[in-house]
Amino acid sequence: MASKLIPSAARQATRSLSRATKSRQTQQFTRPLSTTPQRRSEAMAVHRNTPINNPSIPFSFTDQNKAIIDEILKRYPPQYKKAAVMPLLDVGQRQHGFTSISVMNEVARLLQMPPMRVYEVATFYSMYNRDPVGKFFVQVCTTSPCMLGGCGSDVIMKTCEEELGVHSGATTEDGIFTLLEVECLGACVNAPMVQINDDYYEDLTPETMRQLLKALREVAKSTNMDLEKIPRPGPQVYEGVQRMTCEPRPGKTSLHDVYDHKAHLRTDGEL
Ligand code: FES
Repeated sequence: MASKLIPSAARQATRSLSRATKSRQTQQFTRPLSTTPQRRSEAMAVHRNTPINNPSIPFSFTDQNKAIIDEILKRYPPQYKKAAVMPLLDVGQRQHGFTSISVMNEVARLLQMPPMRVYEVATFYSMYNRDPVGKFFVQVCTTSPCMLGGCGSDVIMKTCEEELGVHSGATTEDGIFTLLEVECLGACVNAPMVQINDDYYEDLTPETMRQLLKALREVAKSTNMDLEKIPRPGPQVYEGVQRMTCEPRPGKTSLHDVYDHKAHLRTDGEL
């Protein structure tokens, strides 16, 4: 009956008013999921010219690296050679020590890409170091499995800070170590772990971490960087247990016998 007495426009206006009131009431009691204040940083995305990193510093690949680049480019059709931007940036970083603006510009020239496209890649992926790092770049994984596994990554981070005298993101005064806290490096089963240059050191304890850093410091200070003396990567000795990879610490727990597949097949001819 009400629908006949009240004109349609008036009914709609009443409904909108009631919805708006409800939505205001809901907003009053809605709390944001996160209370962490937003901190905007331009550190990851912005380049500022410095005396050691500006476009007027010449960069070109060595003959050896040019040969490697030719090999890489053979994997891509000529019209898609810009797909090689990531491996080329990696070659540039290994040659120059970090991914400077000149490295990026040279990669853009070689791949005939707008430099901005190369900058976008280099600033998106954290493995491209756009500032110089020490001889040994220590990346400590602090994601949950490493935080909870073994002695925990907090202890490993603290050990590194004490041993090196720097905090995450800094390089030691002698230029030997750069320390950085990073997210999961994909070796969670051997937690806690760190990546040093290209190698993983796993199943760490404060003692093994300290020994590792001391050994690397000695290598860096030796006259010709005796790489043979760099400690063996992989799982370190953990409470007397040396794992080869990521097998269970107490040893094999399953698949002890050679599997006899014939014993498990049907004999009536069916699969
Ligand atoms: S959480 Fe540390 S390697 Fe995955």
